[in-house]
Amino acid sequence: MSEKIKFTIDGKTCTADKGTNIVDAAKANSIYIPTLCHLEGVKPAGSCRICNVKINGRFMTACTTDVAEGMVIENNTPEIKELRNIIVETLFVSGNHFCPACEKSGNCELQALGYRFQMMVPRFPYEFEEKVVDALSTKIFIDRNRCVLCKRCVRSIKSKDGKSIFAYYGRGHKAIINIDHALANKMTDEEAQKAMDNCPVGSILKKERGFSQPIGSRKYDKKAIGSEIEQTVNV
Ligand code: SF4
Ligand code: FES
Repeated sequence: MSEKIKFTIDGKTCTADKGTNIVDAAKANSIYIPTLCHLEGVKPAGSCRICNVKINGRFMTACTTDVAEGMVIENNTPEIKELRNIIVETLFVSGNHFCPACEKSGNCELQALGYRFQMMVPRFPYEFEEKVVDALSTKIFIDRNRCVLCKRCVRSIKSKDGKSIFAYYGRGHKAIINIDHALANKMTDEEAQKAMDNCPVGSILKKERGFSQPIGSRKYDKKAIGSEIEQTVNV
């Protein structure tokens, strides 16, 4: 039997198995910690920092940190909420996220976080960057102008022999995701759909199918992101 760990989140006493990261441990105790780059079952990368919490007074990413006995975690404080707002607003201005025209609208985690955090207008200027859209693969295309560089595609989508179909290329502002076209062309429809689903935004899209599920009936159109974890949504 696995060892149980006792800790608190915003003063609530919680328990979880030893070796559980804070995001999953919070979830097991009906507490939502926002995430974007984290994908359940995939090794965390800690790249978006939206899951920042304070542990014993220090900021740390909840997806890459395991719970420990007696840990005091702050999640839902004005300071942390403000930090998360800044991260979401920064992501919105650094890409071209025109939600009404995006196939992922209603299923997009960034859009859903914007709604949940009640973001109206970002406080930062839009960058309107123009990155090359790669439509050379037969099953998928990638609109890099929407990419939040979460690396979910790199970490979770592999070819049958375990090779990476997506790769992170470049540094800083010039960083992009590249596709191995030869491998991508061998993807089945299911694999192409999985790549689209695993992308938290509308950067990877499956070709030849669009808006098959009407806007208004999609995952986050009716329920706030995180509401499946907690009963009361604390914005
Ligand atoms: S293409 Fe999508 S899944 Fe891949 S890094 Fe960009 S946002 Fe993340
Ligand atoms: S969800 Fe933890 S750093 Fe992105």
